[in-house]
Amino acid sequence: MEITFLGHASLHIKTKTHQFIVDPFISGNPNASHIALEELKADYILLTHAHQDHILDVEEIVRHNPKAKLISNYEIIQWFGAKGLEGHALNHGGKAQLEFGTVKYVNAIHSSNFPDGTYGGNPGGFVVTTEDKTVYIAGDTALTFDMKLIPLTSPKLDLAILPIGDNFTMGYEDAAIASDFVECDTVLGYHYDTFPPITLNKELALSHFKERGKTLLLPKIGEHVTI
Ligand code: NI
Ligand code: MN
Repeated sequence: MEITFLGHASLHIKTKTHQFIVDPFISGNPNASHIALEELKADYILLTHAHQDHILDVEEIVRHNPKAKLISNYEIIQWFGAKGLEGHALNHGGKAQLEFGTVKYVNAIHSSNFPDGTYGGNPGGFVVTTEDKTVYIAGDTALTFDMKLIPLTSPKLDLAILPIGDNFTMGYEDAAIASDFVECDTVLGYHYDTFPPITLNKELALSHFKERGKTLLLPKIGEHVTI
């Protein structure tokens, strides 16, 4: 599985058979100006919640990938459905069996409304399981005991993708605890540096993880990690 960081909380995931985009916010992120939005390929677009910094480029990506299907909570699928976009609705604790494996919508502690004020359902994260890999995408969330349910209910994680920018989500110190809760010592950090309140001291974050015997991956925007 190849995971490309597209800046902020946006990811491109390539499995052996399918491609995913998670929480596309590229055109609104000056740090990601080198990412060619129109070239991104997706069979599925995963949306953790309805905030602008997670859904901004959904319609543009679907324009270039007309067969792409959204996967999110019921309210988000309804909202995009009214605009003619195809989707698969989940709710918390539920997983969908798809051609490549499963996608489960798991708990997050955050908020979720659309830019127009419409209620966006309760926010979540995803556990994506393919035939050989499992990755947890936390979405915007605080540290929560519910994360302890993930190793009890999913195959062993190969990677945990956690917000580390603080202020709107957990910071890196809580993310290190989250990595204990989900029983995965390899963490890809996201949701930092895009806006002034979530500026990250990378050296402190990296050493915090290292001191605890964990690996914090901070790929540059456009770089990928392979698991
Ligand atoms: Ni948010
Ligand atoms: Mn956010």
